Amino acid sequence: MAKDLSAARLTEAVTKSFQDTSDPRLRMVLQSLSQHLHAFINEVELTYDEWEAGIDFLTRTGKTCTDTRQEFILLSDVLGASMLVETLNDAHTPEATASTVLGPFHMIDSPHRALGEHISPQSTGQLCVVRGLVRDTHGAAIPGAVVDVWQANADGFYDVQQPGVQHKGNGRALLAADEQGRFYFQSVVPSYYPIPTDGPVGELLSATGRHEFRPAHIHFIVTAPGFKELTTHIFVNDSKYMDSDAVFAVKESLVRDFVARPAGTPNPCGVAESFVEAQIDLVLHNDGTELTH
Ligand code: BEZ
Ligand code: FE
Repeated sequence: MAKDLSAARLTEAVTKSFQDTSDPRLRMVLQSLSQHLHAFINEVELTYDEWEAGIDFLTRTGKTCTDTRQEFILLSDVLGASMLVETLNDAHTPEATASTVLGPFHMIDSPHRALGEHISPQSTGQLCVVRGLVRDTHGAAIPGAVVDVWQANADGFYDVQQPGVQHKGNGRALLAADEQGRFYFQSVVPSYYPIPTDGPVGELLSATGRHEFRPAHIHFIVTAPGFKELTTHIFVNDSKYMDSDAVFAVKESLVRDFVARPAGTPNPCGVAESFVEAQIDLVLHNDGTELTH
């Protein structure tokens, strides 16, 4: 007959149950997960009702997911797990531009646009020019690198959140860096905005007195053959919530001043009126497949 297991023996038995897992990484992850999960349950002395509430919360989180909504990633974001994974993986490529969270709004393909075009033609707000170089960690330009950009408008809404107000593709662009690795575009300065709160993650935030806002930012995914894909943002300096991003995604190296330029200031987009300008170099790390970088 099986003996009753004490709490400590139970943890040991579960850990041991994975010992024949042939993939060593899977074995390590599952054994560590079991030990940390059990340690957590022990530490908070989880009650049966709390266990049930937790299962219900996770079940509803799963049921909230659709083809265009990922509540589990949002949960990971507000728990700082997404940023911890980003930060650990970034540590392998310290000379590259820092990465930050992808977020849930990269859900449609960005339209191809020419360098210098306005990427938010339906938006009103403060005109900005964003420019920079896509380069490698030795400073060499990466011509033809693809820069995928997406952002909220000046009211804090992405195109996909305002059907009937914004066309899909407003606030988005797929740009190709020129021969010198330069990219540049016009847009409006985005606003801070709330993450989705109409699901279980929203309940968690309100039950804990946390706010749901992210500071103003513009997203980028940068790709080029032979380089590690970069997912990042630039943050608008002085935005509200810079010190309390709901998803902990601000990295100081990504915060940029949007500097006022008077009418007539030369700029690569051909803007004649006054605007604000932000610059960022997007530095990619080689992915180890090409020895020339
Ligand atoms: C975003 O920046 O689009 C975002 C990131 C994480 C959670 C929600 C939104
Ligand atoms: Fe965003």
